[in-house]
Amino acid sequence: MENCFRLKELQIEEILSLLDLAEECRLGKHCNELNGKLIANLFFEPSTRTQYSFNTAEERLGCKVINFNPQASSLQKGESFYDTVKTFESFGVDGLVIRDRADEYYRSLIGKIHCPIFNAGDGKKDHPTQSLLDLLTIRQEFGHFEGLKIAIVGDVKYSRVAHTNIEVMERLGMQCFISGPEEYRDKEYQYLNFEQAVREMDILMLLRVQHERHEQKMTLSTEEYHQQFGLTPARVKQMQEHAIIMHPAPFNRGVEIADEVVECEKSRIFKQIQNGVYVRMAVLLKVLGERR
Ligand code: CP
Repeated sequence: MENCFRLKELQIEEILSLLDLAEECRLGKHCNELNGKLIANLFFEPSTRTQYSFNTAEERLGCKVINFNPQASSLQKGESFYDTVKTFESFGVDGLVIRDRADEYYRSLIGKIHCPIFNAGDGKKDHPTQSLLDLLTIRQEFGHFEGLKIAIVGDVKYSRVAHTNIEVMERLGMQCFISGPEEYRDKEYQYLNFEQAVREMDILMLLRVQHERHEQKMTLSTEEYHQQFGLTPARVKQMQEHAIIMHPAPFNRGVEIADEVVECEKSRIFKQIQNGVYVRMAVLLKVLGERR
């Protein structure tokens, strides 16, 4: 691996090997294996989990880390995305972790930026490390992927998490459905009524409504959304005994998920966040370490 742009570019064997490496990281192996490497985290869009779990992963691997602050940078004087990235490459960093609101931003950098790029989310297209942490969480729970049923519920149309997950999960033999409000449906995918999804799925993955990517205001009020598509304690009771709840976060308590459900026994939301550190360690090791 020379970069990490999209999971679509990786074979299933490579994805499973990344998950195995992430498990080794979870068990405390590979600390300080990238001692002395210098990484810059360039987040042109806000982030808590992805930015700081990359940061944690880099620190655990012994890297030195630069966290770019767009609000206090020359972006405010009109400097472009490309010139900002090129500036950090010129500092001699060993890797760039980049999030940007433009779909496939990395295409504009190919052939011009010569150090490895780790995609931390591009527009509504891809979020490869989020999908890896979702897959790791699912494999820890069920031990396999083949035949598992997942419904991704909510703002699917604008979700890079949904798009990346459905592509890779189908390749792994999972049955993927979408559910939620009509206005956020992506016609490419198989739709399931929400109440049926609650009763029949092995995994319910809820999504936040991504208002920042919408041109129009949501037609439902937040109360209507919660009533029709929110995961409430009453709906949790209807889920299969073995079924689990996932969410990439940040979540809106009282909208797509009830406050009491966030940390209920079926929720794996904070497990996903924890796994984020291990999969990001694995991706950094694959690209920058001795394991290419
Ligand atoms: N799940 C996720 O990408 O969260 P952040 O936007 O906080 O990084």
